[in-house]
Amino acid sequence: MKILVLGSGAREHAIVKALVRTGTVSANIVVAPGNAGIAKDAVCDPSLNMLEPAEVTAYALAGNFELVIIGPEAPLIAGVADPLRAAGIAVFGPSKAAAALEGSKSFAKEVMAAAGVPTGMAHECSTLEEVERAIDQFGAPYVIKADGLAAGKGVIVTSDRSAAMEHAAKFIHQGVLVEEFLDGQEVSLFFLSDGKTVLPLTPAQDFKRAYNFDEGPNTGGMGSYSPLNWLPEGFVAEVQATVAEPTVREMARMGNPFVGLLYCGLIVTARGIRVIEFNARFGDPETQVVLRRLNSSLEALLHKSATGHLDSIVEPDFSEHVAVAVVLASEGYPDTSAPDRPLRGIGEAEEVEGVEVCVAAAREQDGELYATGGRVLSVVATAKTFHEARRRAYQGVCTIELEGGFYRTDIARKVDENE
Ligand code: AMP
Ligand code: GLY
Repeated sequence: MKILVLGSGAREHAIVKALVRTGTVSANIVVAPGNAGIAKDAVCDPSLNMLEPAEVTAYALAGNFELVIIGPEAPLIAGVADPLRAAGIAVFGPSKAAAALEGSKSFAKEVMAAAGVPTGMAHECSTLEEVERAIDQFGAPYVIKADGLAAGKGVIVTSDRSAAMEHAAKFIHQGVLVEEFLDGQEVSLFFLSDGKTVLPLTPAQDFKRAYNFDEGPNTGGMGSYSPLNWLPEGFVAEVQATVAEPTVREMARMGNPFVGLLYCGLIVTARGIRVIEFNARFGDPETQVVLRRLNSSLEALLHKSATGHLDSIVEPDFSEHVAVAVVLASEGYPDTSAPDRPLRGIGEAEEVEGVEVCVAAAREQDGELYATGGRVLSVVATAKTFHEARRRAYQGVCTIELEGGFYRTDIARKVDENE
């Protein structure tokens, strides 16, 4: 099957690697725009503007693509899925209307309320006076969320009242949500959805803060691991029954069937499971560990989702082996961006047993790779134990040279210690 993957991150690289590992011929995959790292595994076409619905549709028709996989949120929110679907192409990714589950936190709250999905209490605010009233009602720590997309920078969790108000002031023009603080372990659980039927993948945990010991600013994610052996039995079934199924049913009832990946961002509190966010696409860097463990055909799973036939497919099979991903970020991330710098040692890292490198931000010039800022790559390792997977991942990341680059050294440390 000819497949077009939209996006250019480590997530898209992980999708390409998983497609190939589970049976897709790499010559049948095109990634647009892709990056110089992904180009080692599939053809990349940087000429396509993935945010232009008409351009993407014309490209997909001209290239006879039979499946389009939309990686990041931006093209989903821009409505790229709609004309593709109207043109008769199978698309893994929700319509513009359904992607609002990620694009608008207040819309997500409305859907959850209508569907009876457990989530934190929240106030929608359009003035700073309303924000002040709401934070005083909930008390510290304060959770302030921009209503729209903010590239991972829209949320602050702080006990510093003036920092909370400053954050609110920055985003109040688009509306902010003040939410009760939820205490507990975070879990990312992905569901494939064909608009009616959902199928769970395997739970993962993401490390959102920039530095060790969960310090520093929130980021897109600095590392991840899977599976979560500490979850209670029945966890996935409970999230399916109380979160994913009612949400997908409510979206269909509203006339916005959700076709694609429903990312459930959860906190396991003492009072039960609560949704802290929905995303309308695969998470990054959780995808790197989730898909690394997938044994079933990813192409079949995504195509069945895109064409409304998930009920005809058996539950995906995951390896017993564990996976750990460590993100290498460029100097200054997430606050400032570093100039492009030489990036060396990826080949050596991949010589470590069980290690794959998924590249997020690199370009090639005169045969040499340059990191182009932000999260640069994920080193993903598998092994029988977390202890060994961590050892491999960190051995891999150590061989990579990037001036000013940094990574957390405590990814999956607790599960390793408790193993
Ligand atoms: P979000 O973009 O909504 O996932 O929020 C980013 C991060 O902020 C989450 O991964 C959590 O670590 C944290 N967070 C969000 N909402 C809450 C909440 N209500 N209570 C505690 N932490 C939260
Ligand atoms: N890792 C969090 C996200 O993809 O939104």
